[in-house]
Amino acid sequence: MNGNGRTSDVDLDVVIVGAGIGGISAAYYIGQMEKYSYGIFEAREALGGTWSSFTYPGIRSDSDMFTLSFPFNPWNKSNTVAEGGEILEYIEETAKKFGIDKKIVYGHTATNMDWSSKDQRWTSEFKKTDGSSIVVTSRFVVVATGYFDHNEAYFPDLPKKELFKGPIIHPQFWPKGVDYENKTVAVIGSGATAISIVPHMADKAKLVTMVQRSPTYITSRSRVDPAAQWLLKLLPLKLASIILFLFYELETTIMFFTYKIFPNYGRRVLQNYVKKQLPPNVPLDPHFVPKYKPFDERLCWVLEDDLFVSMREGKAAVVTGHIKQLTSGGIEMQDGQFVPADIIVQATGLKCKFLGGAKIRIDGKKLNLGDTFFYRGMMLDGVPNGIALQGYLSTSSWTLGVVQTCEYFCDLLKKMEKEGYRQVTPIAGPEVKATTEPFPMTSGYLMRALDQMPKVADGLVWRHHLDPIVDWLDMKFNRRYQSLEFK
Ligand SMILES: Cc1cc2nc3c(=O)[nH]c(=O)nc-3n(C[C@H](O)[C@H](O)[C@H](O)COP(=O)(O)OP(=O)(O)OC[C@H]3O[C@@H](n4cnc5c(N)ncnc54)[C@H](O)[C@@H]3O)c2cc1C
Ligand SMILES: *[C@@H]1O[C@H](CO)[C@@H](O)[C@H](O)[C@H]1NC(C)=O
Ligand SMILES: *[C@@H]1O[C@H](CO)[C@@H](O)[C@H](O)[C@H]1NC(C)=O
Repeated sequence: MNGNGRTSDVDLDVVIVGAGIGGISAAYYIGQMEKYSYGIFEAREALGGTWSSFTYPGIRSDSDMFTLSFPFNPWNKSNTVAEGGEILEYIEETAKKFGIDKKIVYGHTATNMDWSSKDQRWTSEFKKTDGSSIVVTSRFVVVATGYFDHNEAYFPDLPKKELFKGPIIHPQFWPKGVDYENKTVAVIGSGATAISIVPHMADKAKLVTMVQRSPTYITSRSRVDPAAQWLLKLLPLKLASIILFLFYELETTIMFFTYKIFPNYGRRVLQNYVKKQLPPNVPLDPHFVPKYKPFDERLCWVLEDDLFVSMREGKAAVVTGHIKQLTSGGIEMQDGQFVPADIIVQATGLKCKFLGGAKIRIDGKKLNLGDTFFYRGMMLDGVPNGIALQGYLSTSSWTLGVVQTCEYFCDLLKKMEKEGYRQVTPIAGPEVKATTEPFPMTSGYLMRALDQMPKVADGLVWRHHLDPIVDWLDMKFNRRYQSLEFK
């Protein structure tokens, strides 16, 4: 029985919410322990999360596949960057390989999750597509719903948009069969999405103009890594993938710390690259001189210089400034420039959403995310037996953060089993004070969601994931179960 007096339809050890990279990883690690029953509840009709819902032209990984792939099923192809469809196929194959696909229940959206201290159990309610719902009880919940809203995007209003005669498309909801051959396209935005969509559309379109309010740091990656090709040919997959993982991980970490510590050096390296790539008629300033320091926001990767190749071929252009309004045939900028367009792509970003929008109650009391502290990027202050699965956003791949959390969770399960505990809860004492800079980054989509995010404090316990090496050292050598209460 649960709080609402409804009988449970299913009882499990672990309920996993979401069937993306996070949910599949959690299922793998829990499955390996062979002791715990689990089920994955997915709102949509497909697995893969991000990689099945995003279908815009040019969708691809922007971190390397050797760190984005699951360590338990390493990426065995030599391409470092993969297209969205290829990543989805890989996630599907992985789920199948370990029998995880059979544990997914589709079309079930978690709406409420209630913890009862009396029963030491969660009661979760899932709404089905037909409007009915089911109730599932469990000892643990792993919420693997990613970090953004899958149903809504960030859609800032464009003045006079009713005048524009063509379609305005958000990349998150790319309609099937958009024909842009020989058409003039304006892409609003300068983030990772805009940067991958512009050169891809430029292949077929007449002209694609990137309309940005402010510039982004850009660097380049090649599609295929010859060293990876050799390693994968010569060594057993397991060994090769470990070497490649470490290589790419270290490369990212070294770059991150070098640019963070020496921002002027970072700026110079990044801008020298762009300067060499630009056609003579496009100045670096203002189009590619960001206002922030490298890695204060996410660094964007072009693929084999593709954005700049399109610019040099006259197929892509960039306009920097504020939009005044739309007209029937394009975008009027505040400085008087006009950007012609048959189609507008509004790559203005995601809407953050923590815990997939499910309402959480602890013994009947509603949990306000803004009032709680985040425990090492994995759990929430005062929330028993619950994992909020998150990955890295800039210092490494999302997957690595997820996997580290899953391993920690399995370790907790083992410890509790051995020592006879039923409940684990992070507890932030009254001495824990929130800091005002909750994220290691200042990207717009994070800043817009501040009030719905858990708080963080100074030190290593109450925080988001930081960096894989820092996190690993923290959990290995700092007190592993610090601030956790076992019952
Ligand atoms: C365009 C784009 C490119 C990216 N590129 C990279 C990259 O190169 N490298 C990288 O590391 N990361 C990248 N990311 C981050 C990316 O989100 C992660 O790689 C990863 O896919 C996230 O996996 P996830 O399973 O945690 O979340 P998601 O992929 O967001 O999946 C969450 C799942 O939970 C489901 N769900 C949500 N709410 C509920 C609910 N209430 N009930 C039931 N189900 C629910 C959703 O339907 C979805 O299927 C990118 C993201 C985007 C948008
Ligand atoms: C490579 O990985 C894919 C996806 O997991 C798998 O289907 C395929 O069999 C693997 N190939 C080799 C040669 O290991
Ligand atoms: C696009 O333009 C090219 C070159 O002018 C032409 O060959 C092609 O047929 C055009 N495609 C369409 C769909 O109009």
